[in-house]
Amino acid sequence: MTLDALTDEVLARCEVLGGISEERGRLTRTFLCPQFRAVHEHLAVWMADAGLRVRMDAAGNTIGQSKPRSNRSRIFLVGSHVDTVPDAGKFDGILGVVLGIAAAKLLSDRTFSRRLDVIAFSEEEGVRFRTPYLGSLAVCGKLEAGHLAARDATGAAVSEAIRQFGLDPAELPLAAYPPKRVAGYLETHIEQGPVLESLDLSLGFVPAIMGQTRAWLTFTGQAGHAGTSPMLLRRDALAAGAAFVSSVERVGRATEGLRATVGSLTVLPNVGNVIPGEVKLSLDVRHANDEIREQAVAQLHAEARALAKERRLTLHLKRTLEQAATACDAGLTARLARVMEEHGHRAVPVVSGAGHDAVIMAGLCPVAMLFLRSPGGVSHHPSECVRREDVKAALIVMTTFLERELTG
Ligand code: HGY
Ligand code: MN
Ligand code: MN
Repeated sequence: MTLDALTDEVLARCEVLGGISEERGRLTRTFLCPQFRAVHEHLAVWMADAGLRVRMDAAGNTIGQSKPRSNRSRIFLVGSHVDTVPDAGKFDGILGVVLGIAAAKLLSDRTFSRRLDVIAFSEEEGVRFRTPYLGSLAVCGKLEAGHLAARDATGAAVSEAIRQFGLDPAELPLAAYPPKRVAGYLETHIEQGPVLESLDLSLGFVPAIMGQTRAWLTFTGQAGHAGTSPMLLRRDALAAGAAFVSSVERVGRATEGLRATVGSLTVLPNVGNVIPGEVKLSLDVRHANDEIREQAVAQLHAEARALAKERRLTLHLKRTLEQAATACDAGLTARLARVMEEHGHRAVPVVSGAGHDAVIMAGLCPVAMLFLRSPGGVSHHPSECVRREDVKAALIVMTTFLERELTG
């Protein structure tokens, strides 16, 4: 199969998976939703077509394994995630998995000393259970009781969702790779930002992934009648929440390189003629430097406390993710950059503001990441797209890189 035909096959497969959603009219696919079965079935056919032996582990990760020279050989992993945010684009995560299968197919006529595993992680975004990276945590043997006890909006726990899907949480330990056997991990992903496009480059490599703090804040005041309650006697939770959202933007803008976002805000009782008694909002703070991130989070927490005090409200803050900034492996990344240059690309570093499974995999083995240009810098949105020539370029670089890493 020619490179052009394979490139077109990769794009067509992203379209196929992009059409499998748990919501009508938009792409939303959360951890182990019923539609995951169709995704697994497509991946299983495509992985088998690439000469891979296919399995699903107890966390719902779909894994295709090549046939190495010996069963005791070390393993090189390539992959990304196949869950999505609500109303997602078709390439975030998915492209890295489909490109990994295409590279495996290009290499399938050879037998290497190392085994190649292509992994489609079942959960990275943390949408359904507000706990990201469940798939890669299982592969790294780091899924703990706390993760399995996390509950979704219906009150179902992660462990129940696993059982409901027909998998057995008791087998989760079998999903873990023994660290000694894993030689490295490559994740190819869209940049999801404007840098490569601004440089007019197809590809970049990732030196580091920003650290993240994710939290939920609840301001609780007193619901009341919008007509009879004098302004100065109110304990209006939404007025405090709105002031806090402005603080998040102010602190984010004032701190070089910081990303600070309130992406979700719910109001109770959320009707026009009732003073809001409760507001629950998300906080997402990221930076390449952990100290700066932690200072910003502490400052915002202090400002939230001051707002609550001044307005006679109560404040509850629950951190759901504390993820340190992660450096990609220097040696593996240097080898990736060299392959990029050999294929005529300027190898530029792009720090990732988005989290990736590579963050978790870095606890298991050396990791490297290859970025593709995101036209318009858009992601987590249906207009997310890629350029065909960049997909072809990524396939070429990945195949050369994997060929060398599998030779060991
Ligand atoms: O939000 C993120 O960092 C990524 O999309 N998981
Ligand atoms: Mn994402
Ligand atoms: Mn992603």
